Amino acid sequence: RKSLLVLLLVSMVALLAACGGGDKIIVGTDAAFAPFESLDGEDIVGFDVDLLAAVMEEAGLEYELNNVGWDPIFPSLKNGSIDVAISGITITEERKQEFDFTRPYFESTHMIAFYEGTDIQSANDLEGKIIGVQTGTTGQFAAESIVGESNPNLQLFETTALALAALKQGNIEAVVTDIAVASEFVKNNPNDNVQLVSDAENFEAEYYGLMLADGSELKETLDTALSTVIENGKYAEIFQKWFGT
Ligand code: ARG
Repeated sequence: RKSLLVLLLVSMVALLAACGGGDKIIVGTDAAFAPFESLDGEDIVGFDVDLLAAVMEEAGLEYELNNVGWDPIFPSLKNGSIDVAISGITITEERKQEFDFTRPYFESTHMIAFYEGTDIQSANDLEGKIIGVQTGTTGQFAAESIVGESNPNLQLFETTALALAALKQGNIEAVVTDIAVASEFVKNNPNDNVQLVSDAENFEAEYYGLMLADGSELKETLDTALSTVIENGKYAEIFQKWFGT
């Protein structure tokens, strides 16, 4: 009788697993990068969040978005604890060696946010300044291309939000980050002593994509859905919501 009970339990668990959306796609992000993804109470909100919803709906896929943090995105894709990442992730040659990306969905470049009174007119003026960047981002690599790797003046932050908060406090003199994120910060903090400068000569254009494990079977489905959303006007609607004036 005991083994019958065990059998019953095992089959119930199996049934639950099958019905409970075992095929749900797990998506990871780092929700400290407004306006692409940030926390509003417990909710993750932003351009990426709305775009993801549109793409998943178009693809007919069930999903769950988790705030896993930036650094963990990369190992989590590799070990399969997440299936997809959307996080304002720049498609780079280095990352393409280890991961797959969808088609690009957003053009970006870097910008310097600096503390008022700091003499920064172009990226070359970053030399000798106390700079904050988010660890492992293209902002870090862009800053390093100017001041050199492991420069003691370069401070690494776990999130871009923390780097910008340190700038607002005057603890650091500049932050190198994605243009839309720097602009959003200044827009939301109009009375703070933070100013912006761009530098098209030093900072190249780059493109965001959804990131996948190398060889992921989801790539084609997501590419098709993303293209549809871009072509059918849904993308423009979401863009207007987050970037419209
Ligand atoms: N675009 C930059 C990169 O790919 C920064 C992305 C940071 N995103 C985030 N959600 N913190 O490196």
